[in-house]
Amino acid sequence: MTTQETARGRDGVREAVVRSAARGLSGTEQLAGGFGTAVMALVLLLATLGTAVLSLVGVGLLLVPTVARGIRALANRERGRLARYGVELPELGSPPGGVRGALADLSLRRELGWTASHATLGFLLGFLGVMLPLAAFRDLTFVLWWWVGPSWQSATSIGVGSVHSTAEALWVSLLGVGWLAVIVGVSPNMARLQSWPARKLLVPDPSVDLSLRVAELTATRAAALDAHALELRRIERSLHDGSQNRLVAVTVLLGAARRAMDRNPADAVELLDRAQDAAETALAELRAVARSILPPVLSDRGLAGALTGLASNCGVPCDVEIDLPGRCAASVEATAYFVVAEALTNVAKHSGAHRATVTTALRSGRLHVEVTDDGYGGADTVKGSGLDGVRRRVEAHDGTFRLDSPPEGPTILAVELPCGS
Ligand SMILES: Nc1ncnc2c1ncn2[C@@H]1O[C@H](COP(=O)(O)OP(=O)(O)OP(=O)(O)O)[C@@H](O)[C@H]1O
Ligand SMILES: [Mg+2]
Repeated sequence: MTTQETARGRDGVREAVVRSAARGLSGTEQLAGGFGTAVMALVLLLATLGTAVLSLVGVGLLLVPTVARGIRALANRERGRLARYGVELPELGSPPGGVRGALADLSLRRELGWTASHATLGFLLGFLGVMLPLAAFRDLTFVLWWWVGPSWQSATSIGVGSVHSTAEALWVSLLGVGWLAVIVGVSPNMARLQSWPARKLLVPDPSVDLSLRVAELTATRAAALDAHALELRRIERSLHDGSQNRLVAVTVLLGAARRAMDRNPADAVELLDRAQDAAETALAELRAVARSILPPVLSDRGLAGALTGLASNCGVPCDVEIDLPGRCAASVEATAYFVVAEALTNVAKHSGAHRATVTTALRSGRLHVEVTDDGYGGADTVKGSGLDGVRRRVEAHDGTFRLDSPPEGPTILAVELPCGS
């Protein structure tokens, strides 16, 4: 083995030892934290049982709201604690006030179930999690002080055997090494087991989640209908004020030309020329309306090409990062197109930016679109109609809209749409 290989091997061992120590420490820390909340859960469980017994004679009913608040507070404390270890559990507000409300609250019932399991299983695991490092410390250092204490101390941390010489004390210290190995090997799994009831029972109740989702869908459906009605009105206005007026002019001019034909053919020709101009303008306006419904560039060049085209026509230098392996539903692509078109128009009109970036990606069936600029910031949906229209369009597709534009900039407009294909 070369010197280099030996050094590499030594580095590898050191890295493995550091990693194991970190795992053991983190597991122990989680278990000890869990032990703290388990002690509180045990007190609360006893209080709950006491309240239940007292409720049989009526007095306990007065205590139900207080116990309910205690359970919710402890559950929220556990949610906050577990969030530090990457377990995201949203905290809940106060439980319903009355006895009947508290009993009917599904989330509270699940929290009570968690209190019972955390006060027993969680307590036991937490206790072991705290005792193991203490035993390891005691046994590891035993060789240094075995001769100091009374004779009962001359034993291992598990209480068997007695020690009469330093050589025998060294065996006890070896047991300490064993404890350390147990801590490193088992404590992360023990911590996971301790938090398992919380991960099952302290998540929002699925039926509550579903009713929130229904409320959200009802709201976005209303927004979709609003956006649809608004869009129809816009198209109707564009047709009425543009093409329809031009076509009326065409019929009037054609009628005048027909009447002038016999009297003054030169006048008739001039009228026919004007009628032709009006018909061509009507055609151009009709094309513009059609383009505003579904930009043909999308079917010609795809979303990537269409967005690149928008960026290259932007008044501010604009980078484009596109990662679109597939295609989305036409209406989703059209929405993404209009989002970027409005955002880049705003960048050019309001931002004073030197650079803008358009990023799009397709991940897990969702289309992510982000437009950023390094300008003044201060964009707000309530100041105009463009961004608000974008937000409505996006929400109508059950997507998410985020506008982040602090006073000094930068401005980030991020939109996420279900791909729908
Ligand atoms: N990128 C940006 N940087 C700085 N300010 C912005 C930016 N985008 C929008 N704003 C500000 O937010 C306001 C609202 O934008 P919005 O697009 O809704 O309306 P608008 O562009 O003024 O009008 P329109 O209805 O024609 O779009 C703008 O008036 C502008 O003050
Ligand atoms: Mg605008």
